[in-house]
Amino acid sequence: MNMATTTMTEFSVVQQILTGVELDRHCAQCLSTFDPTTVRKDFPILQTLVRGKKPLVYLDNGATTQKPLAVIDRLKQYYELENANVHRGVYQLSQLATDVYEGARETLSRFINAGKSREIIFTRGTTESINLVASSFGRKFVHAGDEILVSGMEHHSNIVPWQLLCEATGAILKVISFSERGELDMDAFSRLLSSRTRLVAVTHLSNVLGTINPVEEITEMAHQAGARVLVDGAQWVGHFPTDVRRIGCDFYAFSGHKMFGPTGIGVLYGREELLEAMPPYQGGGDMIATVSFEKSTWNDLPYKFEAGTPNIADAVGLAAATDYLRSIDFPNLMYYEHGLMRYAENRLRQVPGLRLIGEAGSKSSVISFVLEGIHPHDIGTILDGDGVCIRTGHHCCQPVMDKLDIPATARASLAFYNTVAEIDALVASLNKVIAMFR
Ligand code: ALA
Repeated sequence: MNMATTTMTEFSVVQQILTGVELDRHCAQCLSTFDPTTVRKDFPILQTLVRGKKPLVYLDNGATTQKPLAVIDRLKQYYELENANVHRGVYQLSQLATDVYEGARETLSRFINAGKSREIIFTRGTTESINLVASSFGRKFVHAGDEILVSGMEHHSNIVPWQLLCEATGAILKVISFSERGELDMDAFSRLLSSRTRLVAVTHLSNVLGTINPVEEITEMAHQAGARVLVDGAQWVGHFPTDVRRIGCDFYAFSGHKMFGPTGIGVLYGREELLEAMPPYQGGGDMIATVSFEKSTWNDLPYKFEAGTPNIADAVGLAAATDYLRSIDFPNLMYYEHGLMRYAENRLRQVPGLRLIGEAGSKSSVISFVLEGIHPHDIGTILDGDGVCIRTGHHCCQPVMDKLDIPATARASLAFYNTVAEIDALVASLNKVIAMFR
């Protein structure tokens, strides 16, 4: 198996990673497919020192990723040369701002292989995208006695909007369980699906367990039962190619800042016919066709869902992030990240008293763990002294903690710019933590 010369399509590499075992025998080779040294130079923050002393070891990419110069410079260019409000001015500068904003929509549409750019709604991020669907789809299509299915490993942002909807409508929220290893119980899912199921909302890649869920299969099963499907792609889009038509889902939500783009911008993809049928989410400028005190009518897609002045600059910055990401050799990037995750897991398993949380067969980029007798917050604080940034806590997934009967985890989450040396720094720092506590 020679990965460097393999001419596999991106999706066959994804398939290899999902099925794992054969690839795991070649972890060292995976690590040699991609050299992060070059790309690290694109990220100014990775050259900085923590408290002026320790090199930054940034392992909190699940919370947010760092930004390449391509994004930072694009934002600067927008504000220096292109800034005006969009869809409003007849003057040249406003046309230019409109063109770059709508160009960003086209770029994002291609990035996830949506059929049409009118299926791309710019939002503040995954959370707002999900709230939009819960509010708008929910108001139109969900009634008392209907059921919404979520997985037990969802982020709060893919639970609470559905709880609010259920409270408002009398619908019922049901939960698909997962195993100790972190794998979704597909038999339980099948049993829960019925003609009452209106929508299935599931994460593509769990931010605590790293589990990659079989979203294509989930979508097919849900559709057979007549239900719609929303996929939370927040943790997926910065690591793998995304093809919403291949998945077949009805809605796909993601954030810019977890894929090397700006904060405060994200996307909701929705099937055109559904978005057409859904009522507006918020009222205001740009989302209307006509307004009178008696009645207002709505603008066409996608503007119907973009009330008020949009986040123009960050949409443009997000498009720059997708261009940057796609300029990297994606198959080898995926191999590398997989190899780095397995390397990290193997090193962490050797740390005395450490237990990995989340060992699904299909897994990526997220490595949660607990250290016997030491609270994750203490681990995080001590690691910070060595310049190592990880996240500690419940990661906005309290039901996952309850299910696994732990209060919190420590979590290292990777991106393609992370290195073997950084994993070694994490492990060295963890050994210091143990020495301090024992
Ligand atoms: N949802 C983000 C995380 O997992 C913030 O850290």
